[in-house]
Amino acid sequence: MTGIAIIGGSGLTQLRNLEIVRREVVRTPYGEPSAPMVYGRLSGREVVFLPRHGPGHTIPPHEVNYRANIWALKQTGAERVIAVNAVGGISSDYLESMVLVIPDQIIDYTWGRAHTFFGSEQKKVTHVDFSFPYCEALRGILIDAATRSKLPVRDRGCYGATQGPRFETAAEIQRMERDGADIVGMTGMPEAGLAREVDLCYACVALVVNPAAGKVEKPISLREIEANLESGMARVRQLLEQTIPLIS
Ligand code: HPA
Repeated sequence: MTGIAIIGGSGLTQLRNLEIVRREVVRTPYGEPSAPMVYGRLSGREVVFLPRHGPGHTIPPHEVNYRANIWALKQTGAERVIAVNAVGGISSDYLESMVLVIPDQIIDYTWGRAHTFFGSEQKKVTHVDFSFPYCEALRGILIDAATRSKLPVRDRGCYGATQGPRFETAAEIQRMERDGADIVGMTGMPEAGLAREVDLCYACVALVVNPAAGKVEKPISLREIEANLESGMARVRQLLEQTIPLIS
């Protein structure tokens, strides 16, 4: 059976609809993952869940140990990873809060993060193909599940990954828009690249929780963002429930 992993982001530190079976602390050559792996059943299938920011949401985006997280998930036998990320909307079709996006491209603006498993200890330098950074098969299943559930979804989009933890300036967002980014988040990379390095089929469910900086006259308050996260993650949970049975 294909192992399925879910990485929860902001607003999804727990999967309320997951029937938890056990938790396991996994050690990796890269240090500790963000939390113990949570094994459970979702829509009748066994899945493993990992909250990216830790169980109490205490790890900021630039301090997440992405290598340990991806290594640990690979150790569990997972073959497919659904990563959930909260994002800001940049281009006009992506500004509506609580829209779900299944991105198909990435631009990486992050820096100083441990972003590869291929280090000096590795004799042979390996360059993985990353032209299409997400697993198309899994993207297709997520889009299909969202459409069947009548959830508002964008079936493509370019994810701009920024360093954070601060939000961007209006000029940074204008530059990102010129570059072709449709949405902006702080945790999409190096996670996706690392998943590709260890040959995991990885796709992202991004939830728009605010218009990006400079996109609306009055910036949205943190309280409103939190409210959007709360209601939006209910949609994400629904999408996950619909998606799991469609994975063969
Ligand atoms: N920028 C970066 N990351 C984010 C945003 C944003 O506007 N909203 C949610 N995560």
